Amino acid sequence: MTRPRLVGLSANVQRPSKTRTLVDAVLREACNQAAFDGRIFDFVDAGPGLGGAWTRDQLPLPARRVLEAIEEADGLVVGSPVYKGAYTGLFKHLFDLVDPGALAGKPVAIVATGGGARHALVVEHAFRPLFGFFGALQIPTAVYASDADFSAGALTEAGVRARAAEAGGQLAALLAHRAAATAGPVALAAAE
Ligand SMILES: Cc1cc2nc3c(=O)[nH]c(=O)nc-3n(C[C@H](O)[C@H](O)[C@H](O)COP(=O)(O)O)c2cc1C
Repeated sequence: MTRPRLVGLSANVQRPSKTRTLVDAVLREACNQAAFDGRIFDFVDAGPGLGGAWTRDQLPLPARRVLEAIEEADGLVVGSPVYKGAYTGLFKHLFDLVDPGALAGKPVAIVATGGGARHALVVEHAFRPLFGFFGALQIPTAVYASDADFSAGALTEAGVRARAAEAGGQLAALLAHRAAATAGPVALAAAE
């Protein structure tokens, strides 16, 4: 049986990245709890051609690979730095190219980072409507971290680390539940 595919997508355009670190923390926590096939991509992987593509057909290969990984995933951890009070324009641009039905019912964990705490509710006010559009199964705990929560590139603030662990746990539980539900009828049919 193939493992459920868990994909992390971080909208950072440079490395090292606080957003990528936070996405990775949630992804690792989920993968520690069950046997998932975890992979992480960021916009450095997608390359600068992502921004110049107006349609899926115009995507260069590196960006197309990221788009397809998102669409084919069984669950997602999505994250963006806050730019001007919201997720970045490039983050929205990528999801504008995602097939509208591709994320329906799929577990999604949401994270964001910003310079300070002022825009902490961006995860609730900006991200949730977008993933509501897709009909994704958003986990209850969204995670926001600001510059002060990191030290030498590592996520160090105990409260944020705890929320990241909580989000990873919720994501793992939902993903495992969905995988079992999908396998159930197949197993029953095979037994008949
Ligand atoms: C163009 C731009 C706009 C930004 N706007 C905000 C903002 O509105 N609120 C905020 O808290 N931080 C803002 N920041 C700071 C970034 O969100 C913050 O440094 C983030 O953690 C960077 O993530 P990264 O390390 O993954 O690139 C902005 C940064 C840039 C470059």
